[in-house]
Amino acid sequence: MIFRQLFDQVSATYTYLLASRPGGEALIIDPVLEKVDRYIQLVKELDLKLVKAIDTHLHADHVTGIGALRDRSYCVTVMGEQSKADVVSMRVADGDKLTIEGLSLDVLYTPGHTDDSYCFRLPDRVFTGDTLLIRGTGRTDFQNGDPRAQYESIFNKLLRLPDETLVFPAHDYKGETVSTIAEERRYNPRLQVKSVEQYVEVMNGLNLPNPKMMDVAVPANMRVGLAQEEIARRGWALPAADAVNLVGRPDVALVDLREARERDKHGVIPGSLHVPYAEVAANVRPGGMLGELARATGRRVVFYCAFGERSAMAVQLAQEAGLATACHIQGGMDAWKKIGGPLGR
Ligand SMILES: [Fe+2]
Repeated sequence: MIFRQLFDQVSATYTYLLASRPGGEALIIDPVLEKVDRYIQLVKELDLKLVKAIDTHLHADHVTGIGALRDRSYCVTVMGEQSKADVVSMRVADGDKLTIEGLSLDVLYTPGHTDDSYCFRLPDRVFTGDTLLIRGTGRTDFQNGDPRAQYESIFNKLLRLPDETLVFPAHDYKGETVSTIAEERRYNPRLQVKSVEQYVEVMNGLNLPNPKMMDVAVPANMRVGLAQEEIARRGWALPAADAVNLVGRPDVALVDLREARERDKHGVIPGSLHVPYAEVAANVRPGGMLGELARATGRRVVFYCAFGERSAMAVQLAQEAGLATACHIQGGMDAWKKIGGPLGR
């Protein structure tokens, strides 16, 4: 496995780059906006293809790099389903798997620091965001934080992982880089409590100042969505209410860009083709399946995904490849369900 722990000194944030092999797909956890050039360069140097950019939660102390990485590498942006970020391309929930080629991370919902906090786990390590820090825990006094929920997340989820599990947090202010579950259980001062009530008391008594970046970072991090308006302005977007009339039409190819897991969970538009987003670029090129289908039959390619983010990027790729009628369903399946569009399996 390729594993890199990168550090942003200004916000003391750790960012993690993971891949199963050189030349393979990569994902990045908690990227920082100011460091995006460095990540892109490293991904290139290691001969990787960045396919997913994940935030463990909505950060208050730095501006996220997931939007910029998406714009530059066409990767999928991922956050938890509770996230108030305007639009992320994929939303995960407790018990899901976060996968790239050769790697599968367990998704753990761990509210407490915020109500959208998640941890991601590989067999030997866990990325704990701001839920569990080295000899500390993330504050619980803003962004719908809740010390009681955090106690549950830490004691009933994280501390139940095997003792030797490596703990990689989103921040460290003292230069520590890694710990283990056993070490934190024993030596983390915040965890030496006898009850949930005692933990709540400790957390409520911290009286911390707000992060310096909070007034900038929180609003910025809530607007990571791609400008779907820009795609619409170019005439490449269909409202879900109009797209409903395209179901079953022989001159239209509806193309679902989501992953198999999302399709199983949320249903599909009847009669649509399935092309996972990661395969779109190869598909729309001359010689690619969708490119040939559109050119040979004159069918209009209509992309859709979960929220319209991946499909907006796919439209751009298709238009660049010369498919002038390609468009997408604005707002994706989320919008489709809101207007009561038909669903299949
Ligand atoms: Fe945080």
